[in-house]
Amino acid sequence: MSEPEILTERLLLNRLLLSDTEALFEYRSDAEVSRYQDWATHSLDETARSIDSHRSVAFDTPGTWFQLAMRLRESGLLVGDLGVHFPAEEPQQVEVGFTVAASHQRRGFASEAVTGLLDHLFGTLRKHRVFASVDPRNAASIALLERLGMRREAHFRESLWFKGEWVDDVVFAILESEWAPS
Ligand SMILES: CC(C)(COP(=O)(O)OP(=O)(O)OC[C@H]1O[C@@H](n2cnc3c(N)ncnc32)[C@H](O)[C@@H]1OP(=O)(O)O)[C@@H](O)C(=O)NCCC(=O)NCCS
Repeated sequence: MSEPEILTERLLLNRLLLSDTEALFEYRSDAEVSRYQDWATHSLDETARSIDSHRSVAFDTPGTWFQLAMRLRESGLLVGDLGVHFPAEEPQQVEVGFTVAASHQRRGFASEAVTGLLDHLFGTLRKHRVFASVDPRNAASIALLERLGMRREAHFRESLWFKGEWVDDVVFAILESEWAPS
């Protein structure tokens, strides 16, 4: 499987590199950005090790997460990242996660990036279904998923033990047959 290089109007999405370590660590260390995220890299070293551990993992490998950088086309600046999960047992289904640095939020970058990713997953890879799992208190993520036209499919009550408490989990999804390419 060739490595994706997804271009949108303002962004380039491609593999997260070791040279992204500092920028990634900086925006992911922000308490608001990491509030609903299971991000276990608490230092620059750990962040670098995490990026490095994915170095040899190819896109679309069952049972793996692939981390895509969200870079400004104009300057190359890293403004966020997308997590793309290829579940081991479901090769035609994909889970997505998203993060945008606080200083770059609310400018449409997540909408643009996930739209580009969905075009790639459905249009190029012919995946059947894409889903995302969010905490219902995560208003920004819910707004993003609704804006993308993803359907709220399930609300699991206190189904996850997360950061010391039982939390709810809401699942959004969209099918290839429902996706209108941009
Ligand atoms: C969720 C997130 C990626 C959105 O990124 P973004 O680039 O700001 O999103 P966009 O600018 O594309 O906005 C998408 C929609 O969300 C809305 N939105 C963005 N931030 C919002 C907020 N804090 N509260 C309410 N709505 C918000 C926007 O208004 C827009 O909706 P609209 O088109 O109907 O106006 C970003 O808030 C983030 O990184 N959050 C922290 C990480 C996180 O929790 N990730 C998800 C884990 S599952």
